[in-house]
Amino acid sequence: MGAIDWDRRLFDSLIPLPHGTSYNAYLVQGTSATALLDTVDATCIPAIHQHLAGVAKLDYLVSHHTEQDHSGAIPFVLERFPLCTVLATPKGKDLLVDHLGVPPERIRAVSDGETLELGGKTLTFMHAPWQHWPETMMTWLAEDSILFSCDLYGAHVATAELFSDFKLLEHEAKSYYAEIMMPYAKLIRKNLDRVAALNPAVIAPSHGPLHREPKAIIESYEEWVSAPPKNLCVVPYVSMHGSTRELVEHFLRCLTEMGVSARGFDLTVAELGELATSLVDAASLVIATPTVLAGPHPLAVTACYLANALKPKCRYASVIGSYGWGGTTVNQVAGLLSTIKPEFIEPVMVKGYPKAADYEAVESLAKAIWEKHRAMEASSAND
Ligand code: FEO
Repeated sequence: MGAIDWDRRLFDSLIPLPHGTSYNAYLVQGTSATALLDTVDATCIPAIHQHLAGVAKLDYLVSHHTEQDHSGAIPFVLERFPLCTVLATPKGKDLLVDHLGVPPERIRAVSDGETLELGGKTLTFMHAPWQHWPETMMTWLAEDSILFSCDLYGAHVATAELFSDFKLLEHEAKSYYAEIMMPYAKLIRKNLDRVAALNPAVIAPSHGPLHREPKAIIESYEEWVSAPPKNLCVVPYVSMHGSTRELVEHFLRCLTEMGVSARGFDLTVAELGELATSLVDAASLVIATPTVLAGPHPLAVTACYLANALKPKCRYASVIGSYGWGGTTVNQVAGLLSTIKPEFIEPVMVKGYPKAADYEAVESLAKAIWEKHRAMEASSAND
């Protein structure tokens, strides 16, 4: 019952959508009552209007999540079905009043584990606070073994395919995890256990295709959330006159020769979604920036801020860069990564254009990272 947004290219005015997205809504019809699970972004009201054309009576509208991409059409649906009751978590009820102006008397708060009998179709509500927002919940449809997982297990992909081919979807699902779910990884851990215990036949997320063989996405989430980071060093960099770029290119070469996977991102052109996705696996993050106005370049500040907000598993960090006469770039970068709390490895800050000793310092940094990764892998193998 949802909408495919083929042309959308930015979400939250921040997240790139190279493949568009979809807002999934589902209709569950029992013998005695009918429920609509979520709606669509307000820009797509014509799509849900068309889907609902053949629906004579709607008893319930389940709102899993108040973010406007799913709740934007709730006022429209309530106007179309004046006797329909919205079901949401208690927190969701508050947010629907605040964000959508839904009259509180049209909303009934449901408790965790509460069931709703539609006549041969039983919905069980599963509160999932901080699975993105504090009000989020999922719904289990026992008779059909379908989990409506809200944003969890989603992907920003516009496709007319109802079901996913996970091999084709994996990168987008991982990007989606990085951009939306990774900051809450510790909090969604217990939800993954609940999902595994349900052993659903189908997972129906709020974005992208449904998972008819959910084992692949369930196992991928297990790895993204819980596995130790990999032997990967991510290097977001920006250079104004070439000095920092020289250092970065040498650094990436050294890492690769030592057997460390290395990915550089030129921040003047990098797609932030790709940078975020690389952070899911990275053990090290090295910010490379010239010193501008006594601190890191603003593009490097943005990269640090985003990395810190996304809370990746990354364990080690350092800084590479050049400066003209002074500044506090290293301290400022360290301050920007305060949530990740990585172990800082001796930075390489070079006055002016890099000289022989500076290249040697870069080699030492690469070697230090290689040794940290080797020790990390050995320790993980012994766990
Ligand atoms: Fe798809 Fe958090 O909204």
